Formats: sequence, structure tokens, C-alpha cells
Amino acid sequence: MPRSFYITTAIDYANGAPHLGHAYEKVLADVIARYRRMQGCQVHLLTGLDEHGQKVQQTAQQRNIEPQVFVDEIAVGFRQMLVDLGISNDDYIRTTETRHKKVVQDFLQRLHDQGFIYLGTKTDWYSTRQEQFLTDKDRNPDGSWPDIYGEVTQTTEENYYFKLSQFQPWLVDYLATHPDFVNPRFRQKQVLEFLKEPMNDLCISRPKTRLTWGIELPFDRNYVTYVWFDALTNYYSAVVDRGLWPADVHVIGKDILSPPHAVYWPCMLKALGLDPPKQLLVHGWWTINNQKASKSAGNAGSTLSYVSTHGADAFRYYLCREMVVGQDADFSAVSFVNRYKADLGNNLGNLVNRLLNMVGRNYAGSIPAAAADEPLEQGLRALWTETEAKLHKAIDEYQVSHALETLWVFISAMNAYIEARAPWKLAKSPEAADRARLDSCLAHVAEGLRLVATVLLPVMPVACAKLLVNIGRPVPGSFAGQLQWSQVCTLSKVAEACILFPPVDLPAPPASV
Ligand code: MSP
Repeated sequence: MPRSFYITTAIDYANGAPHLGHAYEKVLADVIARYRRMQGCQVHLLTGLDEHGQKVQQTAQQRNIEPQVFVDEIAVGFRQMLVDLGISNDDYIRTTETRHKKVVQDFLQRLHDQGFIYLGTKTDWYSTRQEQFLTDKDRNPDGSWPDIYGEVTQTTEENYYFKLSQFQPWLVDYLATHPDFVNPRFRQKQVLEFLKEPMNDLCISRPKTRLTWGIELPFDRNYVTYVWFDALTNYYSAVVDRGLWPADVHVIGKDILSPPHAVYWPCMLKALGLDPPKQLLVHGWWTINNQKASKSAGNAGSTLSYVSTHGADAFRYYLCREMVVGQDADFSAVSFVNRYKADLGNNLGNLVNRLLNMVGRNYAGSIPAAAADEPLEQGLRALWTETEAKLHKAIDEYQVSHALETLWVFISAMNAYIEARAPWKLAKSPEAADRARLDSCLAHVAEGLRLVATVLLPVMPVACAKLLVNIGRPVPGSFAGQLQWSQVCTLSKVAEACILFPPVDLPAPPASV
């Protein structure tokens, strides 16, 4: 039986169009999912849409349409983004689906029956924008409320509370005994920092007088449930009949780690007698001109246009290469175009064309067998062995940018190798030894490219499949037996030419005044 691997992304808020931040997270999860599939795992990749809550209700009201009609419209755009980016999700969950609502209500009822939910009254500060109650800890040092909370008003309300505080000692202990629960580790330390203060219980209801667009509490029809209780449950509700719990990894951004994913979710599951997810993989933020890419900043939608100008593969490569998982990264047209030209066009694309050219001209399109074996060839093969090991290690730690960096060292070494061998000179030499060197050179470049294209399939599925086909190789569905240096390319028929990353004319940026 292949090992199962259940991976999720956050479910995006259905209150605007998809942007760079949403796109990146799907790409990261997809690369990991595809990588694990190639390793032989039975992968289940889940993503979806978070459709309830105040903001959706308000926007639908402003547009004078039913919230369901509004989210149906939004869902089209988000699903299209997945298609455009080549995301291989196995399921898509929307929190307005019956399968999800049933599980949320079941969770609520069980917690209520077991005494983990109680009715309480509180007068508190409330942020409509964030849909959360605030405490004095949330204030700025000067006593004002940070802008992210929007308008903050005092509200007295009777609500249902989940006994979150009761689980604090368990959670602290869990984190202490599971140091890899949050990846990267420095984020786990931040969670422990947060847990040094005593936690409050979690208000998990909203009176219908204030919010109707949500899942009704099964034990009190005057309330709907809090949007985070609803949203987090998607990871479980989507696989309830599949026996896939606990998830192997939830891929999320740093803004929703603590408290939702690192505190509420494990405690909710604990109270329900379920295991926590095995790991949270926390990425940083994409910024544009050092400002967080977001719907409200209005700066992040246009970056998705590179998918249509340069192709999904180039976009996926850029995102994975440029962001060190865990850190923030800045998206810029200059760095995108540089990577496209330098890494993809010059370093990889030109190498492929050099090979096709030389094999076409000197061997009638059939890749020769390696005949000579000199230190240059031995060095290249040794570098591959090293590269492969480093690559697997990086991917196992989900450091995709490191994996790509390592791989590009190898690609550069192949370019250096071909320069050193100068096959165009060897081809002119009448010496038999030079002909043997030429054979070897092209055989080695072909084999190196086969290996590169194979390990890169999860990142650039279309371009790498094209590369493999152009060097006369089948596209493997698994890494098994595919990553050793071998002579499988001998006699493969190559294409005449193959433009993987064509030069792209971009519209000139608007003239600055
Ligand atoms: N709906 C909640 C998540 C519920 S999960 C049970 C939510 N939605 S969101 O649309 O605001 O964000 C979805 C994901 O995109 C989050 O993981 C968030 O961190 C990520 N990103 C949103 N903007 C981002 C950037 N600028 N950069 C990188 N990712 C960020 O939160």
C-alpha cells in the first residue's frame, strides 16, 4: 500500500478576487504534492474557499444580491486561478457545501454535549473588520487601536464560548514534545511565546441579529458559528469519509498561524478526541514595493498577468525560487524578468538547444552513447549525486527555493562543462579520441538534462514534459528508477529545436512623471 499524504492550503476568503498571496500558497502546496506523488505517495491535495462571515454578508448586501450568489461568482475566479496555475488539487471544498456544514454542526453539538461549550455574557471591544473581540493587549502603546481592526466599538452580548483555556497546558506540552509541529521552527517559538500569557476562552457564536451568513448552531437557532470555527473544520470535513485524518501538512501564511491554526485548531481537535495535524508549514508574505500584497492594497492582482505572458511554469518557478519558505519576499517585474531570462532562458533553455543542435548536426538526431570517460565527466556525475541528495533533503524540509538553488548550481555546471568540452571544436577534429569525447559530451548533457527535467516536473510540469519529449524520453509518473545517472538516453531521437522559454515582449511600463 502506498503511503498516503494529505496536504491542504488555507481556504481563501471569498470577499474579493484572487491575488499573488493566494496563488503562491497553492503553488507551494502543489509542488510538494506533485513531488510526493512522484515519490510514490497516495496524495490528497485539498484547497477551497471560506465563504461565510461578516465581510461576505456586507459585500453581498452592498451589491444587493444574495450572499450565495455572490460567493458562487467569487468561486469561479478562484477555481479558474487553480486551472491557470496548473494546480493538481484532488478536491475543492466550499464552506457553504452541505458536506461541510454537517461536520461543523456535528463538531459543535459534540462539544456542547461534552460540556466544552457554555453560554456567557461579555462587554467587550469588537472589530467589525476582523470579526473579533479585542482586549487591551491588542491596543497600540498609545492606547489607540491598530488600523487593521477598522472601527472598534464596545458591545455587550450573550454568546457561546469554547473552553479553550482549559487546553492551554496540554498545548504547551504538545508543542514542547513536538518541536517540528510548526515549520520553520522559529515560528513555533513564537507560538510558545504567545502561550506564555493565559488564554481566554474562545467566543464561537455570533447572534443572528448581527450576522446571518454562517452555519447555525445546532443547539441554538438564534446564533451562527464564528467564521474561524467554521473555516478550520474544512480540513476535516473534506476527508471525513476518506480516513485521511490527521493531515500531514497544512500550508498557511504567517498571519493565520497564531492563534487560529496553532492554538484554536489543535485544541478544538483535542476536545473532540481527534489528533492534531502532523505539521503546519508557514510561509511568509509576498510584498510589492515592500508592502504586503493584498486585496485592500490593490497591488497584487496584476502580478498574476505574468501567467498569461510568460506561462504558468515560469510563474511557478519564480515564486518557488524567490521566496525562502518562512521568510517574506518582494515581487518585482525586474526580478521576474531577470529570472525568466537568466535562469530559464539562458541557463536551461539554451543548454537544451545546444544539445539538440549538436546532436542533429553530428548524429542525425540520435543521442550517442558515452564513449570517453575523463575527469570532466566524472566530476559532473559526482556533482549530480551530491545535487540529488541535497535536493531531497531540501524538499523533505519543504525548502523548495533551496532545492532549486542547488539544481541551478548543477545546470550551471553543465553549461561550464559544455564550454570546457567545446563540442563544436571536437566536431571538427579528425582524431578518434575527440570523436569519443564528443559522444560523451552530448551523452552527458542529454543525461543531465533528463535528470533535471525529471526532478523539476513538480515545479514546471509542462515545460519539463516538453523538454523530456524533445530529447526523446517518456515523461515518468514516478521517480522510481529515474534519478540515477544512466545511459537511457542513448539512441533517443531528439527534436530539431525546442523553445521552452521564448523571449517575451512586455508592454512598456507607464512613463513616470
Ligand atoms: N480564510 C482564511 C483562512 C482560513 S483557513 C482555515 C484566510 N483567507 S485569506 O484569503 O485572507 O488568505 C488565504 C491564505 O493566503 C492565507 O494563508 C494567507 O496567509 C495567504 N496570503 C494572503 N496574502 C498573502 C501575501 N501577501 N503573501 C503570501 N500569502 C498571503 O486567511
